[in-house]
Amino acid sequence: MTVLLPLCLSVEINREGLPYTGLNTTDWETGVLPPLTDMWELNDFQIAAKNVLAARWYASYRTAALDQVTYQANLNIWKKIRLNGFTFRDVSNVNLNTTILGYNFTVPFFIAPAAYAGHTNESAELSLARSAGKLGALYVPSIESSKTLQQIADAGFSNQTMFHQEYVWSNRTLLIEQLRQIEAAGYKAIFLTVDNTGVNGIRVQAMRQTGQLDSDSGHSASFTLEALAEIRNLTTLPIVPKGIKTAADAKTCLDLGFPAIYVSNHGGRVLDGVPTSVEILLDIRRQYPEVFEQMEVYADGGVRSANHVIALLALGAKAVGLGRSPIWANIYGEEGVDRMLMLLQVELQTSLQLMGEADVQNVVGNTSYINTKQVEVDYFGVN
Ligand SMILES: Cc1cc2nc3c(=O)[nH]c(=O)nc-3n(C[C@H](O)[C@H](O)[C@H](O)COP(=O)(O)O)c2cc1C
Ligand SMILES: *[C@@H]1O[C@H](CO)[C@@H](O)[C@H](O)[C@H]1NC(C)=O
Ligand SMILES: *[C@@H]1O[C@H](CO)[C@@H](O)[C@H](O)[C@H]1NC(C)=O
Ligand SMILES: *[C@@H]1O[C@H](CO)[C@@H](O)[C@H](O)[C@H]1NC(C)=O
Ligand SMILES: *[C@@H]1O[C@H](CO)[C@@H](O)[C@H](O)[C@H]1NC(C)=O
Ligand SMILES: *[C@@H]1O[C@H](CO)[C@@H](O)[C@H](O)[C@H]1NC(C)=O
Ligand SMILES: *[C@@H]1O[C@H](CO)[C@@H](O)[C@H](O)[C@H]1NC(C)=O
Ligand SMILES: *[C@@H]1O[C@H](CO)[C@@H](O)[C@H](O)[C@H]1NC(C)=O
Ligand SMILES: *[C@@H]1O[C@H](CO)[C@@H](O)[C@H](O)[C@H]1NC(C)=O
Repeated sequence: MTVLLPLCLSVEINREGLPYTGLNTTDWETGVLPPLTDMWELNDFQIAAKNVLAARWYASYRTAALDQVTYQANLNIWKKIRLNGFTFRDVSNVNLNTTILGYNFTVPFFIAPAAYAGHTNESAELSLARSAGKLGALYVPSIESSKTLQQIADAGFSNQTMFHQEYVWSNRTLLIEQLRQIEAAGYKAIFLTVDNTGVNGIRVQAMRQTGQLDSDSGHSASFTLEALAEIRNLTTLPIVPKGIKTAADAKTCLDLGFPAIYVSNHGGRVLDGVPTSVEILLDIRRQYPEVFEQMEVYADGGVRSANHVIALLALGAKAVGLGRSPIWANIYGEEGVDRMLMLLQVELQTSLQLMGEADVQNVVGNTSYINTKQVEVDYFGVN
């Protein structure tokens, strides 16, 4: 006997534990871009991307290393942090403007380097550049982009400042060549990713889709302090080590005279089991508080709302990076990235106002805006 079921287009998407804020996917069609007007917070873009991208590409962006302990910790750490909101303050003029390495930007968050944006939309990194430029935000393209670094530079506006990411290739000729190209194209600083020492993390979720173990990343496995010193001689641009994940390495970079460091666990994609940026910043504050006085610190990992930005700023980060969210938003191209950045900007303005702080700069390094005791008890054994 044949039972005829009613035709049902209703899409149910596994939310992977992301916070539920009412996103209704009932009318969505699998493989079809949902209305941009359904997007009201950053996590919505991930669900939309999951609906529209081929499983292989979704996994390539979403994956993290091994059991994804660090990836999950990045998303969950915020639940252990409380914000302190003060009242009886004048918050009629909120300022989000900030400087990063001395350059002016209109928001303290930036688009972090993420490889191969081209699997989301054919305009790939060009949309990220334009969108950041319109807002006045920093964009730091990956050296493994779908577009050339010159194309990305050309897509930007004349009033726009971009930095560029670089990897420590074992091929020195390639490294020198790229550093020259980055400089010639007008990028103002280099985020040098130092956490892939010779290999990528083992990204199981992505491997299930590609059917192969990650191949050689081409990164140098003998990247010592001497090698680092040598790289600094290959460019006139300031270098910011990205992927600092211990207090000891932060202090080393300070002693070596770097203008800034970028605390990051690479979105959980490299060494699984390492701490979140919240925990690393707390550890640096305990052991080497001078780091925050003497150099700029940037941070990222699991940032999906302005309150996450605020928590990292309060712990001493001058600017906060977004990795996956711009990728997910880019399934709509420039319009999607515009909306994602706008939503985050509105959230930030709103939270600051509700916290009684009119100037985002006063939050940086000011721990009276947050309570991290629960994290400290878990991480240090005491608070
Ligand atoms: C798909 C993807 C590609 C990435 N590619 C790079 C890269 O090429 N260079 C780099 O330094 N970091 C890369 N990262 C790490 C990001 O710069 C950033 O540190 C991380 O994604 C932040 O965490 P979040 O995704 O939770 O925001 C990548 C991250 C993702 C998700
Ligand atoms: C979701 O949308 C569908 C179709 O518009 C509607 O029938 C349903 O009631 C909505 N669900 C919720 C929980 O709002
Ligand atoms: C922030 O910077 C922008 C761009 O330079 C400028 O137009 C705006 O007036 C500044 N806002 C504040 C509050 O200073
Ligand atoms: C950066 O902003 C400051 C303060 O608003 C302003 O005085 C300065 O001219 C700006 N610099 C550039 C290069 O726009
Ligand atoms: C830079 O120029 C673009 C294009 O003219 C404009 O949309 C954007 O608002 C400008 N950025 C700032 C920070 O003024
Ligand atoms: C190293 O990089 C250069 C410049 O891109 C390239 O020409 C050369 O083939 C590379 N060498 C190896 C061994 O891959
Ligand atoms: C870097 O350049 C300086 C100045 O030219 C030189 O003294 C130093 O030895 C160089 N360091 C390395 C590691 O090449
Ligand atoms: C891809 O991005 C471009 C540039 O923003 C846009 O014109 C195009 O509509 C986007 N494609 C899709 C399928 O959304
Ligand atoms: C930190 O913020 C609190 C609350 O707004 C404020 O009273 C205090 O002056 C700030 N401290 C510093 C060093 O800015």
